[in-house]
Amino acid sequence: MRGLLTIGRTIVMFGLLLGALPVLAQDAKPDPAMVTLGEGFWKRSECRNCHGGLANGIPDMPQDPQGANLRKAQLSLPQIAEVIKCGRPGTEMPYFDSLAYTDKRCYGATAADLGNAMPPGGSAMSQRQIDALAAFVAATFVGKPDPTFEDCVALWGEAATTCARFPKK
Ligand code: HEC
Repeated sequence: MRGLLTIGRTIVMFGLLLGALPVLAQDAKPDPAMVTLGEGFWKRSECRNCHGGLANGIPDMPQDPQGANLRKAQLSLPQIAEVIKCGRPGTEMPYFDSLAYTDKRCYGATAADLGNAMPPGGSAMSQRQIDALAAFVAATFVGKPDPTFEDCVALWGEAATTCARFPKK
């Protein structure tokens, strides 16, 4: 009886593990096509104003507001997409879904619910743009060490004068 139970439990555990695998795999490796698409959005969007072009939380321009260091973020891919879509209530992190807080799509809250905690709005993005940007951020920055001069040139090109402030490898 014990043996049967153990076997049964092993089968159940194995089933759970198999079920979880596609989710984990998807989370660990963002779709390369989406990463490439997202790179273009990162370069054109206002993210760098606050997060810095290499996402280390130091704005490219000293007068810009300070964003989070995305290299130290401990967020899954869907969580990154959610923060971009909805912003962070009570902080300077803007939402990029133009309909955020007009209904309950973001954290189940409307603008009226949030009151003073309503985050600022960024330039409108589609869900596909948001997902691509999240894929790029996850693949390029999250969990990576401090940026070097070489990282900067790889992303922004030789001509980017801002790269001089990063240390050479
Ligand atoms: C006006 C400044 C500003 C802009 C523009 C901005 N952010 Fe942010 N962002 C912040 C701040 C400040 C935080 C930290 C919020 C907090 O305290 O939780 C943040 C947090 C985040 C986080 C969560 C980090 C974590 O570890 O919890 C992500 C992801 C993020 N931003 C991505 C982006 C992306 C992508 C863009 C461009 C589409 C962007 N941000 C534009 C200021 C900004």
